[in-house]
Amino acid sequence: MMNWESIYANAKEWVIEAGDRIRSSFDKTLNIQTKSNPNDLVTNMDKEIEQFFIARIKEVYPEDKIMGEEGFGDKLTSLEGIVWIIDPIDGTMNFIHQQRNFAISLGVYENGVGKIGIIYDVVHDELYHAFSGKGAYLNKNPIPHLEETTVQESIIALNATWVMENRRIDHNLMIPLVRAVRGTRSYGTAALEMVFVATGRVDSYLSMRLSPWDYAAGVVIIEELGGIVTNLRGEKLDFLTQDSLFAAKPGLHQTILKEYLKDGKW
Ligand code: IPD
Ligand code: CA
Ligand code: CA
Repeated sequence: MMNWESIYANAKEWVIEAGDRIRSSFDKTLNIQTKSNPNDLVTNMDKEIEQFFIARIKEVYPEDKIMGEEGFGDKLTSLEGIVWIIDPIDGTMNFIHQQRNFAISLGVYENGVGKIGIIYDVVHDELYHAFSGKGAYLNKNPIPHLEETTVQESIIALNATWVMENRRIDHNLMIPLVRAVRGTRSYGTAALEMVFVATGRVDSYLSMRLSPWDYAAGVVIIEELGGIVTNLRGEKLDFLTQDSLFAAKPGLHQTILKEYLKDGKW
């Protein structure tokens, strides 16, 4: 029998411990490298934190599988069994340039179904966490359910790239949406942008290309509060490949999808 309560407790404890490690790295010199392009950055801390999680998980749950951004986990072709999906530092560019606006993101899935979502804003010591069916919390406080809102009264989070000509979406679909909303924001960390949707600080978050570790935890938290998460065509995410992402309050998701994103027909 799976003891989900202790998995949840261990996961939260390890995330907080990882946060302490990141905080105590602030006065040390970072080793910064580039990955796929000069703006795709990784530091020794991204790698160390992923390895820290893997060591802890393998020690207590040797059967479980691990998908981590920095590649120290397993190479997965399916989500069968229990899978831990980890982004050791989401918002690495912010971590390097600002020492803030980044988070640890950890999701635990069972046969492809989200069970646990944990996102830790290390600098603010804010732990967002949800266990599917048991509510979502910010530290010890329950996060209220999401209410419907209109496009005109909403703040949406998105990157300016998607409102310029780009390879992934016709920017002519995005411009009317940006004109219609009350305001736009861009934080440079998918995980925190998702908890901002969960807590109502923004009403929606749109991104053209993310990986499963960017959103695995956020999906569990947002869905627990009645929010909707799909790709930008309104389809279910598969948690194995890169995809676009569209998270929003209920009602708002349907309206934006139908009136601005043409029900995914683009
Ligand atoms: C990135 C951040 C960023 C998003 C990128 C992600 P990383 O994650 O979430 O906001 O726009 O697509 O790759 O690389 O800092 O973990
Ligand atoms: Ca990320
Ligand atoms: Ca990362």
